[in-house]
Amino acid sequence: APTLALVALAAYLLGSVPFGLVIARVFGLGDLRQIGSGNIGATNVLRTGNRAAAFLTLVLDAGKGAIAVLIARFTLGEDAAQLAAGASFLGHLFPVFIGFRGGKGVATFLGTTLALAFPVGLAACATWAATAALFRISSLAALTAAALAPLWMWILGEERMLALGMVLAVMIFIRHHTNISRLLSGTEPRIGRKG
Ligand code: G3P
Repeated sequence: APTLALVALAAYLLGSVPFGLVIARVFGLGDLRQIGSGNIGATNVLRTGNRAAAFLTLVLDAGKGAIAVLIARFTLGEDAAQLAAGASFLGHLFPVFIGFRGGKGVATFLGTTLALAFPVGLAACATWAATAALFRISSLAALTAAALAPLWMWILGEERMLALGMVLAVMIFIRHHTNISRLLSGTEPRIGRKG
């Protein structure tokens, strides 16, 4: 239906807004792609030392996914909400506004998951936070949260989300391939360190 296509397009465009780049520029922190990992996410904003800017990036990158899901749900229902989740996530990974070179999707994944099923989202955020608290490595926390998200969906009775959750988790792993190499070689920087 044309309305579903419209929702997908709107969610993709919303997901495409690279808040990390915008926030870094607004805060006068320079071009995020020349800093640290070069990624456009909150973790890399934190490498500038500006916690407020990093937190704002996290909230806005998660928020754009959540808003996309909520708008789709209230206009067209649950299937549209899942479509919007996938589309906003793809927007963050492949943003039309910056040459399709986007981020790794962690914050946007958490935001869409919170909006799709709040308990699952909370469990995924808690998984991220617990892993981050233990190891102080953002990518490891993200990979753990992504890998366990489908398990939380199943345990919490949200099987309807499983297919989407597994696809997004696989995409998060693929986007973290350089992080995974560094984790395996023991050279992945701790949260807040420059590298
Ligand atoms: O959200 C991305 C995070 O998991 C890793 O970011 O900058 O360390 O590659 P970064």
